[in-house]
Amino acid sequence: MGGAAPIVAQGLNHYFGLGEARKQAIWDLNLTIKRGTLTILMGPSGSGKTTVLTLMGCLRDVQEGRVDLLGHPLRGATEAELVQLRRRLGFIFQAHNLHESLTAAQNVLMGLQVHGAGDAVKQRHAAAHMLGLLGLADRMDYLPANLSGGQKQRVAVARALVSNPEVIFADEPTAALDKESGRVVVDMLKTLGQTRGTTTVMVTHDNRIMDLADRIITLEEGRVVKDTNP
Ligand SMILES: Nc1ncnc2c1ncn2[C@@H]1O[C@H](COP(=O)(O)OP(=O)(O)OP(=O)(O)O)[C@@H](O)[C@H]1O
Ligand SMILES: [Mg+2]
Repeated sequence: MGGAAPIVAQGLNHYFGLGEARKQAIWDLNLTIKRGTLTILMGPSGSGKTTVLTLMGCLRDVQEGRVDLLGHPLRGATEAELVQLRRRLGFIFQAHNLHESLTAAQNVLMGLQVHGAGDAVKQRHAAAHMLGLLGLADRMDYLPANLSGGQKQRVAVARALVSNPEVIFADEPTAALDKESGRVVVDMLKTLGQTRGTTTVMVTHDNRIMDLADRIITLEEGRVVKDTNP
C-alpha cells in the first residue's frame, strides 16, 4: 500500500499573540511524512516542536500555509470533518490525562469508546491485550493513583494505540519511562509502522531511542535546521 503521504505541510507559518505581542513561532515549514515511518522531532525548548505536532494533529488551527492530513486539507475543514479525522489518530502527550476514577483497563477502553459502541467483550479483550504488550497485565484493575508515573504513561500509550490509529502524534512519550520501557513503547510504534503502515511523529529529547527513528527533524526557532531523511 502506497498512496498519498499521510502528512504534508507546505509553507506553514504560525503566530501566537495579537497586535504588538504577535510573535511568529513557525516559519515556512515544508514537510512530507511517508506512510509507515517513525519520525522524531527534536530541538531546544521553545523551538516549536509541540506547535508543529498540534498543527499536524488538527489540535490547533492552521493560520497560514497548508497541512494535509490523510488527504484532507486542515485549513477550512469544518469541526465535523475534524472530529471524523481525529478518530483516525492516536495522541500520546506527556500530561497523560488519565481519568482518575477509572482503572487502567477502563482508561484504555475509553480509547475505543470514542469510536462508538462495539462488541464489549472484544473491546475488553483488545484493551487487556494492549496493556499486556506494555507490561501492565498485572495492573489492569489499578486506579491511576496507585500506578507509578511510568505505568500511567504506558496506560496512556495503550489508550492511544488500542483503536489502531493511522497516524500517531506523541509528545515526549518516553520522558517518564526508564530505558527499558521507553524502548518497548518506541519499538511498538516502529513495529506498527512496519506491520500496519501506522505513521508516527514523535517529539523527544531521548537519546536512548534515536536509533529507532526513520527520520530525525531538528527545529530551531521555528525552522527546520536539520533533516536526516527529507
Ligand atoms: N499558547 C501560546 N501562546 C503564546 N506563545 C506560545 C504558545 N504556545 C507556544 N508559544 C511559543 O511558541 C514557541 C514554540 O513553543 P512550543 O511549545 O512549540 O515549543 P517546544 O519546542 O515544544 O518546547 P518544549 O521542548 O519546551 O516543549 C515558544 O516561543 C513559545 O513560547
Ligand atoms: Mg513542547
